[in-house]
Amino acid sequence: MAQHARTTELLGVDFLPLGKAPQIEQEQAQAQPAMEVEAKPVEHPEFLPNAPKPATPSPNAASLPPAIDLASLRAISDAQPDAQSRLDALRECYEQDAPHKHFNTGFTNIVFGEGAADADLMFVGEAPGEQEDLTGRPFVGRAGQLLEKMIVAMGYSRETVYICNVLKTRPPNNATPTSEEARLCAPYLLEQIRIIQPKAIVTLGLPASHLLLGTTSPMRALRGRWHAFPPPAAAQGIISDHEADGFPSIEVMPTYHPAYLLRSYTEDNRRKVWSDLQMVIERLKGDSSA
Ligand code: URA
Repeated sequence: MAQHARTTELLGVDFLPLGKAPQIEQEQAQAQPAMEVEAKPVEHPEFLPNAPKPATPSPNAASLPPAIDLASLRAISDAQPDAQSRLDALRECYEQDAPHKHFNTGFTNIVFGEGAADADLMFVGEAPGEQEDLTGRPFVGRAGQLLEKMIVAMGYSRETVYICNVLKTRPPNNATPTSEEARLCAPYLLEQIRIIQPKAIVTLGLPASHLLLGTTSPMRALRGRWHAFPPPAAAQGIISDHEADGFPSIEVMPTYHPAYLLRSYTEDNRRKVWSDLQMVIERLKGDSSA
């Protein structure tokens, strides 16, 4: 009951009249939720005039090299004694390989991810924003503060979940990651997932949802139901059939990115996100009592 009251207060789900949208930093308001806005023109026409610029294509997108071989990352992390050391070794690999160097040199810090190496619940966002770039930590700006409230409302804390992004560096102009940029960085996200083996992943926004689920469906078609990662072989996923071998099957719940929620702070959107998160809570609760 207390949890419910706290949750409704945090997300404004039950409160009428609805509160004003929290102020959002310009950079996050403009950058992160672009694809949701593009994907939902009918449902949220009122947001279109303020819609962010479409992603600026990377100038050298056509010439990006192949991504690092997932098998070599696996071999390195598997040589480590425990999950935290595997994540540390993976981060070192990322720093040496620096896949972002092919499309991004204007960032301050790598934002690799943080949280519990054995988390049951993992959140995957899009790319670091300004605050994340400055601090080297994921989701610490306004969208991150909302995400943290959601996590607490779910009965977890930042320390007990794992939070990371598709891209580990802030994109130039806060642009939405191109599929090529995501492809170059994907092996590191895949390996983060394989090391942590969460019971559930919440993908925040379309880039993470599309990358992990091998789909281009709009969020309204993805959210509110469970998906499997790795996706079925028919999906054009980032993981080949061969690589999927031995990969644990993990349940994925896509939902709106918190930056999108801040921009489109309607009761309807808040209810949808909270309903998605409640499905996650129920599933994890069911797992732990099994
Ligand atoms: N938006 C994201 O997708 N990730 C962050 O870390 C911050 C904002």
